[in-house]
Amino acid sequence: MSYLEQEIREQPQVLARLLTEEVEKARALAEAMRRRKIQYIMVAARGTSDNAGRYGQYLFGAMNHLPVALAAPSLFSIYGTPPRFGDCLVLGISQSGQSPDIVGVLEEARRQGVMTAAITNEPDSPLGQVGDHVLSLHAGPERSVAATKTYTAEVMAVALINAVLSGDPANLAALSTVPEAAAKTLDLAPEVKRVAERYRFADRLVVLGRGYNFATAFEIALKLKETNYIASEPYSPADFLHGPLAMIDESYPVIFVAPSGAMLPEMRFAMQRVSERGAELLVISDDDAALAAGQLGLRLPAALPEWLTPLVAVLPGQLLALHMALERGDDPDHPRALQKVTLTR
Ligand code: F6R
Repeated sequence: MSYLEQEIREQPQVLARLLTEEVEKARALAEAMRRRKIQYIMVAARGTSDNAGRYGQYLFGAMNHLPVALAAPSLFSIYGTPPRFGDCLVLGISQSGQSPDIVGVLEEARRQGVMTAAITNEPDSPLGQVGDHVLSLHAGPERSVAATKTYTAEVMAVALINAVLSGDPANLAALSTVPEAAAKTLDLAPEVKRVAERYRFADRLVVLGRGYNFATAFEIALKLKETNYIASEPYSPADFLHGPLAMIDESYPVIFVAPSGAMLPEMRFAMQRVSERGAELLVISDDDAALAAGQLGLRLPAALPEWLTPLVAVLPGQLLALHMALERGDDPDHPRALQKVTLTR
């Protein structure tokens, strides 16, 4: 079995472990944020980790009224013109904790006397060393180049910080239901394999998600690019329907990340518009009507609140990336031209 498949399958255990091991550190961070009267968060991250930050952009806003900005690291590393942070928490997210430009954003925060935190799988890494607070992912070594278990662990760490910061015990309780929901979702593997057989010759597709699952659309599209070399483009339907929709025809499959929740009617509306263009729809949802609107459907387990659905909705996308690579005869663990640890400056 490939590392990618093993790591995809490990996710329920990784998420459960993170919840038990890191809750106290999340509480300490939340307490410090209250004490310092943090007004907003700046996330520094790349690639998959940036997608976890994108999830945070919605959750910190919705659950804790905190605006989140995604940092522009070249302002620090190339232009040498760092912005003034103010009453900010600078949050670095990186599975490896190695990338110099991400570490540089937190170093500058420290120079300005601003609070820092790191979410990383390597607490002894350079990033771990510049975090005033460090949450470890407890994901174990990730050997596949494409990140999977560290992504969901990063998303869980962001969810955990938000749950404790909200002060509502129901939010923390909801987190504990996720590992089992993730395990159920992974049972979709045989169905995903059938979808992968159908899509084996696809060379382009679009992934749509909005709100909490905007991040999921980005992450699924990235996995498909890395492991299958497909031009897979992520969009929010709010943007997609007013421009990129024009490129869609019968030859352009569209994946919808559409779990139940406040965003579902918007996603349903987008499904209608995209169907009118003749495209084939692959719907990832727990909702009967949404699933019925697609030619292909992957059913998520029901009952998670919308803010936690990104932790399960990404899993069919990871499985699709794995099985499409296998169908094509590509090595899912070693995509061409890529290395595991990325050192951007
Ligand atoms: C995607 C992937 C890359 C990394 C990115 C950041 O599967 O692995 O996009 O996520 O290079 O790496 P870290 O998280 O180590 O900073």
